[in-house]
Amino acid sequence: MPTPFILDVDTGVDDMVALLFAVASPEVELVAATCVTGNVHVDTVTRNTSLVLELADAGDVEIARGASEPLDGGWQPFPVVHGPEGLGAYVPGHHAKAISARNAATLIAQEAARRPGEVTLVATGPLTNVALALELEPALPTLLGGFALMGGAYRAGGNVTPRAEANVWMDPEAAARVFDAWSGLARRPRCVGLDVTERVWLTREDVQAICAPAPSSELATLIGQAVPFYIDFYASTGRFDGASMHDPLAVAAAIDPSVCEWIDTRVEVELAGRWTRGETVTDLLDIRHTRWSEWAKEENARIAVSVDAPRVVARLIERLRGLVSERA
Ligand code: RIB
Ligand code: CA
Repeated sequence: MPTPFILDVDTGVDDMVALLFAVASPEVELVAATCVTGNVHVDTVTRNTSLVLELADAGDVEIARGASEPLDGGWQPFPVVHGPEGLGAYVPGHHAKAISARNAATLIAQEAARRPGEVTLVATGPLTNVALALELEPALPTLLGGFALMGGAYRAGGNVTPRAEANVWMDPEAAARVFDAWSGLARRPRCVGLDVTERVWLTREDVQAICAPAPSSELATLIGQAVPFYIDFYASTGRFDGASMHDPLAVAAAIDPSVCEWIDTRVEVELAGRWTRGETVTDLLDIRHTRWSEWAKEENARIAVSVDAPRVVARLIERLRGLVSERA
């Protein structure tokens, strides 16, 4: 029996791959996609998400528009990473899927309350919608069946500043509220940070393998124009010639946590640091358990500390290739 998933996205290229992976995974019933300003503005995110799910022939997935600004404002786009339209070199034309009358936070809160313990939420953008859903439904942490997020850098450097990862950096106030809300609960957010996501990447050859069953189809055209743009960005950083599959790993880990190794810890989000705002400050040595610690706090996160990257990439390629073949 597939698990109902809600993906909260800022579609973007890797969010697109995460959505396709969710649609292609038999373990998942994608019931909704909620949109948030992040890589691009929420109106563009909503258009992109609608288009991706239409090309994937995803069926009856409720798409909701969410927050257009971080909780404290100050949003700025990053066109160099995901392209001006958020889908790399792909220029979106039409999109037909209707947009929900509910906003994202309302949808998340209501669906979790309607199906207690059933719904898995996977957040792959800034956590603004999740923070707003917590305001509407403070019991959200106990109502969700599972919660995974792509965000943070727990034992790694940041990708926007030396200490901050993009999703947390874009709305650190929202991230702080989310981590606080799960304090002391047995079921903690599975946090997939740069520590592991930058070990999971697709190459140009992988994209060709995914598109091979129907290279001229609309879905293959989308994948074939979006992902290489993202690969070019990563190649331009000189680190590796592939695109980090940040968001797909959050979905893969929500489906099958065994793809990563995890530790339970306490995470605080830095809000005031001149150089460190948006850092996910992590108690990796369990200082909070020592008698001298001011950090006598409960665990609020389960963070991924390693990943079986070849296994994740192989599953990603296999499932997206199958989707391209089915939608030919
Ligand atoms: O830091 C990586 C994250 O920022 C990913 O979710 C990517 O889509 C961007 O939103
Ligand atoms: Ca994202």
